[in-house]
Amino acid sequence: MLENQISELQAAALKRIAAAHSADEIEAVRVEALGRKGALTQVSKEMGKLAPEERARVGKLLNAAKQALEQALDERKQEFDASALRAQLDAEWIDLTLPSPGPRAGSLHPITQIQMEIEDLFVSLGFMVLDGPEVETEYHNFDALNIPPEHPARDSQDTFWLTDGNLLRTHTSPVQVRGMERFSPPLRMIAPGRAFRNESVDASHEHTFYQLEGMMIDRDVSVAHLLYFMKTLLTEVFRREVTVRLRPGFFPFVEPGFELDIQCVICGGSGCAVCKHSGWVELLPCGLVNPNVLRISGIDTEKWNGFAFGLGLTRLVMMRYGIDDIRLLQSGELRFLRQF
Ligand code: DAH
Repeated sequence: MLENQISELQAAALKRIAAAHSADEIEAVRVEALGRKGALTQVSKEMGKLAPEERARVGKLLNAAKQALEQALDERKQEFDASALRAQLDAEWIDLTLPSPGPRAGSLHPITQIQMEIEDLFVSLGFMVLDGPEVETEYHNFDALNIPPEHPARDSQDTFWLTDGNLLRTHTSPVQVRGMERFSPPLRMIAPGRAFRNESVDASHEHTFYQLEGMMIDRDVSVAHLLYFMKTLLTEVFRREVTVRLRPGFFPFVEPGFELDIQCVICGGSGCAVCKHSGWVELLPCGLVNPNVLRISGIDTEKWNGFAFGLGLTRLVMMRYGIDDIRLLQSGELRFLRQF
């Protein structure tokens, strides 16, 4: 009786193993037939009731049935494992001979973008683009710009001095001097670059910022020329009319000197952190070049005069894009940078 039961169970299990579609089904058969509560395990519990010689025979048969099932289960399991591996390998196949897609494309920093636009504009107006060192001599940063050692104007530019007597330039104006030393008039140049001041950092001040210096030396240059170029510059950058105001401003290297302010584009003039709640942002100090500056660099002031300006490039970028915290620009934060 038990013998019949065993061979029936074996045959039924083998059939199911052969018909299984997945490793999971195989596992289910294993549990049902051979598990602790499985059918064959139940049969072996019945064996205690048998006579000894019968028990030996049935025991053998039971063991043979278990072995046969284990083997069939293992074989099918291996088949399923192998085909799963094949499917995975097919899916993960890589053609190593294909050219690599390369690193993900980055984008130009907003300051760089505006700098390049302004360079293009001024090049089209006949200006050279000059570069100067960030570590400057005291002479180029101050003296040659008509700021002698005891001049109070030095106090307003809190400077990083180096132990060798040089300094981190506090503005891009020293490139004016280098331009005049290198080339003779008529002269049209701009000089974008970084400048440094010992500032306490907040939403509108950084110790490191960008300026764009400009200078034109020619015959009979007037404030009208200066204003023409400044208006052309601002219209190009903002691609619309911006409200500006001109105030007298003092810089030792220009006379007369002006502060050209623009109405704060962030708050529309109602007052915010960037414009220090005044509605206006100092953006474009400028003026007619002080004859002393020309003379110091060996230019004949009987023949030549000029204008100069020092655009705050960092401020300009903040205005154009409505950035209300200067610290974002040098944060290296990709979520910020990807917007440009
Ligand atoms: N160098 C000045 C500064 O950083 C800005 C400046 C003012 C530059 C007037 C000029 C100028 O060329 O004419 O504060």
